[in-house]
Amino acid sequence: MYDKLMKCLSSVKEKTSFKPKAALILGSGLGDYADGIQVEQTVDYTEIEGFPVSTVKGHKGRFVFGYVADTPVVIMQGRVHYYEGYQMSDVVLPTRLMGLLGAEKLILTNAAGGINESFQPGDFMMITDHVATGVPSPLIGPNMDKLGPRFPDMSEVYSRRLQDVIRECAKKCQIALKEGTYVQFTGPAYETPAEVRLARTWGGDAVGMSTACEAVAARHMGLEVCGISCITNMAAGISKVQLDHKEVQETADRVAKSFKELVTEVVTNI
Ligand code: HPA
Repeated sequence: MYDKLMKCLSSVKEKTSFKPKAALILGSGLGDYADGIQVEQTVDYTEIEGFPVSTVKGHKGRFVFGYVADTPVVIMQGRVHYYEGYQMSDVVLPTRLMGLLGAEKLILTNAAGGINESFQPGDFMMITDHVATGVPSPLIGPNMDKLGPRFPDMSEVYSRRLQDVIRECAKKCQIALKEGTYVQFTGPAYETPAEVRLARTWGGDAVGMSTACEAVAARHMGLEVCGISCITNMAAGISKVQLDHKEVQETADRVAKSFKELVTEVVTNI
């Protein structure tokens, strides 16, 4: 795995010498965020030998290098999901790559189903913690000692400092911000109502199919991590309506403008 990572790293380094300070992973609804920044260079995932390539419609597969205000960033436009069939170590390979390119901070975004009944579709939830018990750990296998320790601490996955930054940014943008714990399951099926009740007893406020694994890999290598979910729907069994990817996409699109505004503010103040 380490060799594969290093191969991907040198493949990207052959194409760009850009040094990002922050890394950003875009979830549903934010897909075109990268088109709006000052783009310096893009690298398609397909150009990187051995790189896992996303298959989800609407997820572009490329790294975008550029500037948000004065902050040099690398953006993953389109992430890799476990449900696509990759090993978890491949799912987090791009995250690790961005860390190795120099990013010291990681901003994670996603679409999620709301478990907390005080949430509504269209709300933003700052992730304060996660439960990754529903998916295999990306750290399973021989430890990559050059990246981080065998048994990394996870007591502050989502940086308290960055949580304060996000709260301030939301206030400044006059965007209401919920907070809570994100529970990752594998998908691709949406959860059953019983699984959503389980996630609630686990302390979950929102549920989704990404993010926690990337946060774990990033913390393993010492990145400072934060995350924001867009609550695109209420999780199964909480609302009476059946879940549908179209609804998820529509809600994400409806609030995309605010989401982008908030993300820009966060990156600027990171
Ligand atoms: N469950 C899992 N993933 C999701 C959901 C959901 O309800 N909404 C958006 N992504």
